[in-house]
Amino acid sequence: MKKDFLSVSDLTKEEILEVIKYGIELKKDKFKDQSLKGKSIGLIFMKQSTRTRLSFEVGVYQMGGQPLYISGSSTQLSRGEDIKDTARVMSRYLDGIVIRTFSHREVEDLAKYGSIPVINALTDYLHPCQVMADMMTIYERFGSLEGKKVAYIGDGNNMANTWLIACGVMGMDISVATPEGYEPNGKAVLEAVNLAKKSGANIEITNDPKKAVKDADVLYTDVWVSMGQEADKDKKELFKGFTINGDLLKLAKDSTIVMHCLPAHKGEEISEDIFEKFSDVIFDEAENRLHIQKALMSFLFKNI
Ligand code: CP
Ligand code: NVA
Repeated sequence: MKKDFLSVSDLTKEEILEVIKYGIELKKDKFKDQSLKGKSIGLIFMKQSTRTRLSFEVGVYQMGGQPLYISGSSTQLSRGEDIKDTARVMSRYLDGIVIRTFSHREVEDLAKYGSIPVINALTDYLHPCQVMADMMTIYERFGSLEGKKVAYIGDGNNMANTWLIACGVMGMDISVATPEGYEPNGKAVLEAVNLAKKSGANIEITNDPKKAVKDADVLYTDVWVSMGQEADKDKKELFKGFTINGDLLKLAKDSTIVMHCLPAHKGEEISEDIFEKFSDVIFDEAENRLHIQKALMSFLFKNI
């Protein structure tokens, strides 16, 4: 049966660790895995991208496959052809689809009606490829994910939702601090809480960033205004106190690292000095998108 990757919770904890370890192996030898030889992978982008597009295009090439960049506006999708038909047509030509779009439902439908693996490259709800790269980066830095606590500070957006679910799966602790009214999606919180019952993760949602950073190993942030939400940019006023800066970092441990999925708006969700202080970690996260997505594709296409 084909396997999709729409959410981190599509994989078990053991599978995630296997993919992370394989990503670390591929990082040392970029042409080692040729499991996409003869395969064509469609990359549909209905939103902008720098990292996701480049890492998938390069990754598919390095694995011997053919990446096909498909700008959403250039397809019949933008003229109203439905996702059900698009899925069935694309399944006749392609071997896999990577899609970045607005509605998460659209990605679920693509996976439901298509007969080839679908990878979620970001929706308004989730960004699982990014958190896989982030977990690989934490694993590289600390040698393990066991017992680690993530403090997510900022907007309760797709990154916050994904981190909650990922910590639920992995049994990592997480505290998400957002301004009132900008909490993460209730469905993601519920899924994380349910997963935590089995994994032992501690899940906290708060409006107090100082509380969130206590005992955290990782401070994580993302833009306050996500793609497609530009009309709500006045909300930034409410985010004062949610900047990751020296004052907030002082409340964490000496060993705490700061992470950002990029692109960053320095001076808003993160101060420029703290961004530069942790730029090695932040650009490792960006690089690891390439390696983890290759490991993930290998897992989905031939089961490593
Ligand atoms: N982090 C991330 O997904 O970056 P892009 O929007 O540039 O793909
Ligand atoms: N929350 C951001 C993530 C970008 C990688 C957005 O959706 O725009």
